Amino acid sequence: MEQQKTVLLGVTGCIAAYKACEILRLLQKAGVRVRVVMTEAATKFVGPSTFEGLTHERVLSSFFGEGDDPIPHINLAHEADLFLIAPCTANTLAKLAMGVADNLLTSAALACTAPVMVAPAANVNMYCHPATQANIQTLRDRGVKVIEADSGYLACGDEGKGRLAEPQEIVDEVLRQLGVAKGDMQGMKVMITAGPTIEPIDPVRYITNFSSGKTGYSLANAAARRGADVTIVSGPVAVDAPVGVKVVRVQTAQQMFEASEREFPNADIAIFAAAVADMRPADCAPNKLKKRLDAEALKAIKLAENPDIIASLASGKTKQTVVGFAAETQDVIENARIKLEAKNADLIIANQVGNGRAFGTDGNEIWLVGKEGTEHVPFMMKPELANIVLDKILQIRACN
Ligand code: CTP
Repeated sequence: MEQQKTVLLGVTGCIAAYKACEILRLLQKAGVRVRVVMTEAATKFVGPSTFEGLTHERVLSSFFGEGDDPIPHINLAHEADLFLIAPCTANTLAKLAMGVADNLLTSAALACTAPVMVAPAANVNMYCHPATQANIQTLRDRGVKVIEADSGYLACGDEGKGRLAEPQEIVDEVLRQLGVAKGDMQGMKVMITAGPTIEPIDPVRYITNFSSGKTGYSLANAAARRGADVTIVSGPVAVDAPVGVKVVRVQTAQQMFEASEREFPNADIAIFAAAVADMRPADCAPNKLKKRLDAEALKAIKLAENPDIIASLASGKTKQTVVGFAAETQDVIENARIKLEAKNADLIIANQVGNGRAFGTDGNEIWLVGKEGTEHVPFMMKPELANIVLDKILQIRACN
């Protein structure tokens, strides 16, 4: 039997420290042993006893007065198959870049010969500061894997880049590095449509929707981490492309249809997560329509129907497992069942929107509506949901 891997999880002092508990739990779920080392500042955010309770192992934060190990930083470093520092503050990034070893965590990092991975978390200005960016580059040049921070709303109230990457994303990367990634989608080709489409009215105006693309991109990331060969056909989105995934960028539904048509024949799994505009302005004006001069034309924009990408491609499916989405404001499951039939899909992922439940959120509650019945999946973050959806797709393929 393969020997159990050990990850040394370094936790530094910032508000995202609580997310290290989730990272730890996900690593343990994947069969990894986790030891925790904290900075003094981190212990002000989450108590060591929380991590001790989760690991059943001693959690160290100081060189002194913690048990009988006279050289804890060396022993911690030796034990590790990988040292993950998550969250890693801008301050610790700077110390790592300089080789400063002024606490147990940074000393263990200096003594560690195993791969080191850092997942930074900081205020947007601290993260984007040239000093921090230079430190990140120094670490990268030295072979440290840096898991970029996400953009979004930050605990300090600012918006921008600096939020700790999703725990599942960090863990996927760790597992891949350790060579214990699931790999159960090896050799499979997956195509995913994602994001909104935009339908031009004139050179400066268009019709679109609130889709962020996060769901499609999470699925793409998870499938790639599980070994699949993934292509995203993507409308305009602000999310970063996952590592190792091909992205075909499109704008309109017609372009998305044409790009999907090219990818579909080779796909084993086709997931249609895009929020495709059902209608487009029948004619795109060659010049900007002027409020006064073209008021009548603006008020009477004629719409033409866009192709139904999933229905059109799935009607000719051969080997493909076809998965669609249904974001509904009412009768969620019933509408999803109708779409399952109408789109010739094998699975519809349904969720409720409206009533404050908007597009673009980081998590969701979903129903998996298949030919054999419906399963409810309680609210969770999109990277975790992605793996549940992929498990379901593989289960359907195994039964066919
Ligand atoms: N879809 C598609 N092409 C379209 C419209 C939708 O591929 N032109 C796909 C979506 O990606 C999704 C599924 O069809 O997987 C359902 O999308 P939705 O907008 O909910 O369905 P519609 O058929 O547009 O139905 P309705 O507007 O009545 O809800």
